[in-house]
Amino acid sequence: MANIKFTLNGKSQSVDVPPQMPLLWVLRDTLGMTGTKFGCGMALCGACTVHQNGQAIRACITPVSSVAGKTITTIEGLSPDSSHAVQKAWLELDVPQCGYCQSGQIMAAAALLAKNAKPSDADIDEVMRGNICRCGTYQSIRQAIHRASQILTASNRPAHKGGVA
Ligand code: FES
Ligand code: FES
Repeated sequence: MANIKFTLNGKSQSVDVPPQMPLLWVLRDTLGMTGTKFGCGMALCGACTVHQNGQAIRACITPVSSVAGKTITTIEGLSPDSSHAVQKAWLELDVPQCGYCQSGQIMAAAALLAKNAKPSDADIDEVMRGNICRCGTYQSIRQAIHRASQILTASNRPAHKGGVA
């Protein structure tokens, strides 16, 4: 066992667990944060995607010891009230079907947009191809990422342009 400290969704977190335990188990079983899903356990499906220092990672193959001192964000911490542009776009376009893959899809999309605010279809396909959806929501996901990009662009636009002092 080891005592491992990291920041989880903006708060300091300390866990006593075997150092090789996958972060996914720590999140779900030790900390009770079940928004992040288990799909394959082998970095093949993306269901377990979370952010480590802002980058999308697969929690199923990440030993918890490797996140010591780092910042982890899960779907529960993406926004306090589903107000992240990706969440808004997902709701607007009604993307989820069964929903199982969707927290991973949203986290992957949010990491993509943080790096590239206006991704092309090719950019989206390149990043999102590792996130599998058995319900086949790929078309809706792509549309929702473009919509989230518009929301982000609009929110970054200055409220007043020019004008007289
Ligand atoms: S459960 Fe981690 S990639 Fe599938
Ligand atoms: S919405 Fe069902 S697996 Fe993606």
